[in-house]
Amino acid sequence: MEAIRSLVYSVCNPSRSFLDSVTDYLGWIVLIILLLVAVLLVFRSKRFQEYWHILTGGLFTFEPLQLEVKDFESGGPVLDIGGGGEGVIGRLKGRQVVAIDIRLDELVETVDGPQKVVMDARKLSFLDGSISTATAFFSMMYMKTREDHQKAISEAWRVLKPGGHLHLWDVDLSKLPDTKKEFYLVRLRYRVGDYEKGTGYGMRWPVELRSEEYYTHLAEETGFQLLTTERNKHIFYLVFIKR
Ligand SMILES: C[S@@+](CC[C@H](N)C(=O)[O-])C[C@H]1O[C@@H](n2cnc3c(N)ncnc32)[C@H](O)[C@@H]1O
Repeated sequence: MEAIRSLVYSVCNPSRSFLDSVTDYLGWIVLIILLLVAVLLVFRSKRFQEYWHILTGGLFTFEPLQLEVKDFESGGPVLDIGGGGEGVIGRLKGRQVVAIDIRLDELVETVDGPQKVVMDARKLSFLDGSISTATAFFSMMYMKTREDHQKAISEAWRVLKPGGHLHLWDVDLSKLPDTKKEFYLVRLRYRVGDYEKGTGYGMRWPVELRSEEYYTHLAEETGFQLLTTERNKHIFYLVFIKR
């Protein structure tokens, strides 16, 4: 404040040159400019804008649930689609995992162990039949359209070896609650072995409703066969096989 007051004073007072004051308080001026730039960068960041939209649009929170993420067999690499964030599958299968995510910041903050690659699930850069298992742990809910899901599921099918499995955990959005809130939050307390943690996955309500049947239909259309289904209130776990 003192710097600003002095600058204003020097502009109005001809006995002291404006330039002298600028030089005296150069450090403060640079600091203020840096702070302004930092604030601007925060405002422009994707993460801030997400939180801002949620704050202003309102958030519907599903009842919190416990979820034990059970281990599964995989003879080779596990491709974790949308594997950033908590990196639950990376925590479960460690170095066997190749976690791909469209967002670098989501991969940076996730667990160590898996290989991490920025990649779009709708256009995978893996060879046909090179992956043993694919997983999507609450990642499909982050894709916006049916076409995104179709592409991601058919890409998973392409890169999987025959007999490979696709494991899909997600939320049932087939009966939307009576709410004006624009966003929803799936709250979980997940357990992987001895590790337990609470988290939340939030998104804007989709235009098209999405249920277990919706994902099963898309996967079967692609050539997958449904092996098992587990249901816990509004969340489900589906396992498909590539025949
Ligand atoms: C928040 S995470 C979900 C949970 C995550 N699997 C975990 O273990 O915590 C969902 C991720 O899917 C990613 N995602 C959305 N669309 C994608 C796409 N087309 N390709 C790859 N990743 C995508 C998002 O960037 C986000 O990081």
